[in-house]
Amino acid sequence: MELPFSEPYKIKMVEAIYRSTREERERWIRDASFNLFNLRSEQVYIDLLTDSGTGAMSDRQWSAIMTGDESYAGASSFYNLKDAIWDITGFQYFLPTHQGRAAENVLFSVLVKEGDIVPGNSHFDTTKGHIEFRKAKAVDCTIEASKSPSVWHPFKGNVDTEKLEDVLKTTPAGKVPFIIVTVTNNTAGGQPVSMENIREVSALAKKYGVKLIIDGARFAENAYFIKTREKGYAGMEITEISREMFSYADGMTMSSKKDAIVNMGGFIALRDEKLYRQASTYNIIYEGFITYGGMSGRDMNALAQGLYEGTEFRYLESRIKQVEYLGTMLKSAGIPLIEPFGGHAIFIDAKNFLTSIPREEFPAQTLAVELYLEGGIRTVEIGTLLADRDPLTRENRFPELEMVRLAIPRRVYTYRHIEYIAAVASNVFDRRHSIKSGLKIKREAQIMRHFTVELERL
Ligand code: F0G
Repeated sequence: MELPFSEPYKIKMVEAIYRSTREERERWIRDASFNLFNLRSEQVYIDLLTDSGTGAMSDRQWSAIMTGDESYAGASSFYNLKDAIWDITGFQYFLPTHQGRAAENVLFSVLVKEGDIVPGNSHFDTTKGHIEFRKAKAVDCTIEASKSPSVWHPFKGNVDTEKLEDVLKTTPAGKVPFIIVTVTNNTAGGQPVSMENIREVSALAKKYGVKLIIDGARFAENAYFIKTREKGYAGMEITEISREMFSYADGMTMSSKKDAIVNMGGFIALRDEKLYRQASTYNIIYEGFITYGGMSGRDMNALAQGLYEGTEFRYLESRIKQVEYLGTMLKSAGIPLIEPFGGHAIFIDAKNFLTSIPREEFPAQTLAVELYLEGGIRTVEIGTLLADRDPLTRENRFPELEMVRLAIPRRVYTYRHIEYIAAVASNVFDRRHSIKSGLKIKREAQIMRHFTVELERL
């Protein structure tokens, strides 16, 4: 018999989680104004809000913390991290930052000017925010297949190179500072980008004289998909694949809270010394001196170790197959999902789950609330609430898809938890026709409303 894959670690420490009653959850969600961000974590049994900063560190990471060097300048922890980044990405220059969006802030302060155009594949919210905040525009060039929930494409996060070339051709010279490729493509459902696509985008970047920056938050999961889906990569190590991916780029921004399995941290890594020097000034203003930039020495040590653990094939296999297992169970219960399954999360297609709830009543948020009521699971709406209102007309913007994201933290939940999640979702699916109305906004912020919105039942 072929042996099944299994986790390449065992559990040394546990954290209690409380399984509440339905009555308690009814009360708590009302007190939270039907916004899951307002819940206290003790009111949540299984937390799938995000895979960011929620992973479990290893004994080696914790021991690296004990040997952290807290010197203001030139700490050994900085050099440990520099070596690990050089080893895994091939970038010689690096600046630590406190998280991914801080890396965007520092790098974009150098590169993005008013009136610029930054093409990419479904820029993450903060990436887009940092571009738009500078009065520049983010142009989404993701392939069309990404918009259809059930179209199977092995690299559904890819950049449409025709769309991209169109943007590069029609934008005046000097107005495109860089192209940003996000691996994996979180916004499109945790979908990977192929090596071939990165290579093609890099060739276009060179042809038009613009830089290529990779948003590498989930680069290791992307490398896993390249290894398992793309011809010619099956025999390569994840670190070799990662180095090749980055070899086509001029630099990267990183939220270390994802694939580097730490609870806080980020960095910028670059090939060009001049750009590194320019970014250093902003790093000092916004983050901290160039050898700590918002991170303590112990955290840089844990991050260096996390980069190696996050790129181990056996670990990635068990992680991505755990996500896939959840997807497979939900699918066999008949629940409409975004396919193929993403690397870090399963996305439920809420429009086709709660078919009788109009989009004005926020079907994805309604479903997220139902999943919480049913079993204490916290998920996140990626739909009309997140999409905000049009800045000019103040009308709701209705995105292509209404999704609920079930993001799986790294090394945190067991297969039994995954089965519990699937059972909760199936129960809600079985009673979907009894959910006849959605939610109404009581109070909302001007932008990024989904974090603080207050809702009530219709
Ligand atoms: N880029 C991508 C692709 C991300 O998914 C995130 C964060 C960031 C950048 C920003 O990094 O949070 O460290 O400042 N994504 C989280 C999520 C918040 O839940 O998907 P950060």
